[in-house]
Amino acid sequence: MPTIRENISTWNNPATWDSLDSGDAWSTSWGNPNNQWLRVVLPRIQRYIPAGRILEIAPGFGRWTNYLKDLCNKLIVVDLNELCIQKCKERFSTDTHIDYYVNDGKSLSMVPDGSIDFAFSFDSLVHVEADVMEAYLTQLAKKLKPDGVAWLHHSNVGSYRRLFLDRGNFHVLSYGFTKLFGFQSHFRSWSMTAEGFEAMAQKAGLITISQELINWETKPRYLIDCISVCTPKNSIWAMPNRKLQNRRFMDDANYSNGLYSLYGKPQLKYKSAKA
Ligand SMILES: C[S@@+](CC[C@H](N)C(=O)[O-])C[C@H]1O[C@@H](n2cnc3c(N)ncnc32)[C@H](O)[C@@H]1O
Repeated sequence: MPTIRENISTWNNPATWDSLDSGDAWSTSWGNPNNQWLRVVLPRIQRYIPAGRILEIAPGFGRWTNYLKDLCNKLIVVDLNELCIQKCKERFSTDTHIDYYVNDGKSLSMVPDGSIDFAFSFDSLVHVEADVMEAYLTQLAKKLKPDGVAWLHHSNVGSYRRLFLDRGNFHVLSYGFTKLFGFQSHFRSWSMTAEGFEAMAQKAGLITISQELINWETKPRYLIDCISVCTPKNSIWAMPNRKLQNRRFMDDANYSNGLYSLYGKPQLKYKSAKA
C-alpha cells in the first residue's frame, strides 16, 4: 500500500478534493500554488523547459498543469482517475494543445514512442508502489525522445524500513512511529527508495542524473521523498548521478510563506480604511 485501488478510492472522490481546495491546500506551507511553483518547481526544472512536448503523469486537478501548459507546444496529461481528467478538461477548456487520458495506473500506451521532450510528475507518484514506478520507467524509456528528460517526484520512505520495522499493519505501527519518533509516512509508498529508482531506471535503459532527497513536513527532518531526474543513457544530458540530501526543503516553505504574508496578501483593511 498505497495500492492503485486505494489511489482510486482516495482521488476519484469529489469530497477529497473539496476538502483540499482542489489541491491548492497542499501549497499552504508556501503561501499558494504560485509561490510553490516559483520557489520549488521552476528552479528545479528550468534547464529542461520550455519543451516541445511535455507529458504530465497524475495531474490531479491541474495544480502544475496550469503552468506546464504555457511551457510547451503540446501537453499530454495522464491520470488514473476520471474525475481528475474531467476537472482538468473543464479548467483548461480554452487550451486546445492539451491531450487528456485516463489510464489504469500503469500504462502510457496512449503516448507515441520517442515523442516526449520532458516528462513531469510532482506530488503524486510519492503515493505509488515500486511496481507502478517500474512500469512507468520502463515505458518512459520508450516514450522519451533521445534527448528527453523525466523529472519525477517519488517516495523514499522505503529507506526507513529498517529503522521502523516493517512488519504488521503499518496504519497501526505508523501511529507508534509518530508518537515515538515523529515519523509520518504521509501516505507514501514503503517500497520506493532513491536507490530503487536508480536501479529501475537503469534496467529500463535510462540513466539517473540527479536525485534530491527531501523532507516533507516531518520533524525530525526525515528524507521521505526524492526528486529524481533521468534521461536515455546516450542523451546529451547523460552524466553520473549526483545526490543531494536536502533537509532544509521545508525551511524554504516557511521563508516563502513569510514573503507571501509580507508581499502577497492585499492589505484590504488598510485600503478600505483609507477609501
Ligand atoms: C495528491 S494528488 C496530486 C495531484 C497533482 N500532482 C498536484 O500536485 O496537485 C495525486 C494524483 O495522482 C493520481 N494518481 C495516483 N496514482 C496514480 C497512478 N498510478 N497513475 C496515474 N495517476 C495516479 C491521482 O488520481 C491524483 O490525481
